[in-house]
Amino acid sequence: MANGPKVVLTRAWPEEVESYLAERYDLTRNEADEPMSEAALRAALAEADALCPTVTDRIHAGLYEGVEVRTRIIGSYGVGFEHVDLEAAGARGIAVSNTPEVLTDCTADIAMVLLLAAARRIGEGERHVRGRAWTGWRPTHMMGTRVTGKTLGLVGFGRIGRAVARRAHFGFGMKILFHDPFPVPEEVAAEVDATACETLDELLGAADFVSLHCPSTPETRHLMNTERIGRMQPHAFLVNTSRGDVVDQLALADALREGRLAGAGLDVYEGEPNVPEELIALENAVLLPHFGSGSRETRIAMGMRVAENLAAFFAGTEMPDRLV
Ligand code: DGY
Repeated sequence: MANGPKVVLTRAWPEEVESYLAERYDLTRNEADEPMSEAALRAALAEADALCPTVTDRIHAGLYEGVEVRTRIIGSYGVGFEHVDLEAAGARGIAVSNTPEVLTDCTADIAMVLLLAAARRIGEGERHVRGRAWTGWRPTHMMGTRVTGKTLGLVGFGRIGRAVARRAHFGFGMKILFHDPFPVPEEVAAEVDATACETLDELLGAADFVSLHCPSTPETRHLMNTERIGRMQPHAFLVNTSRGDVVDQLALADALREGRLAGAGLDVYEGEPNVPEELIALENAVLLPHFGSGSRETRIAMGMRVAENLAAFFAGTEMPDRLV
């Protein structure tokens, strides 16, 4: 075990990254890979110089109460950071970092997987063959929806939204619409011949596929509610690889069951790991276990990105991904 700052990982990380960190720090791994309790997180805040949580840990203001905090940096493993209260950390002089960029391509790949899987009924087809229900080829068997040349509406046109746009435009000849409250440089939109929609409603009404790429904030909570889902075309599909709470899942399940929406592909859920029965019951929902970033290469790269932030912090130099 190396000396040096004490670093606590709240979950098991890829072996390559754990070994790398263990050579440089006094590392505490989570070999059982069970989520840490609040009491364990508090103990870590009291004992560790660096706490490295994931999306499954809530590092909220109350956690610090009554704790003599030793932690000076929270190196979060993941790009989304709504699970860390930045204000509360900042108020205690704790630096916080995330891992942008390294998971952009893998997450965009999974958005395309979900889009294709929902449109072409991949989950259903798999279940059909494995359930030994297949009786052979026939012209009307399990017809899905063509993807090539259709219109894709991207809600949020940041790094991941743009990566999805490139795949959809260059790979599948899709027409790209986007809606983003933040300005998007003209050349970025021009690269994929994308059209900006002034309003979300405009995008929802025009797209054959809608893919969500916005963060979880109080403003985006249940952005896709009954009303907005109702603005989508009945033949359209909804894809979510961002955060579960951006969608009102029960409103989505109702729309899918009642044929007001053709299908959905979801990688994320509100209240993970619980997935509502209403969605599980639907053949036209493709459901994945929040693994957009889940390639071995990317998960290692995410860990190494945390390591870069820790190294910079402890060397007193500028952290590449400092949030606060
Ligand atoms: C993230 O990084 O925010 C993902 O949801 C987990 O990879």
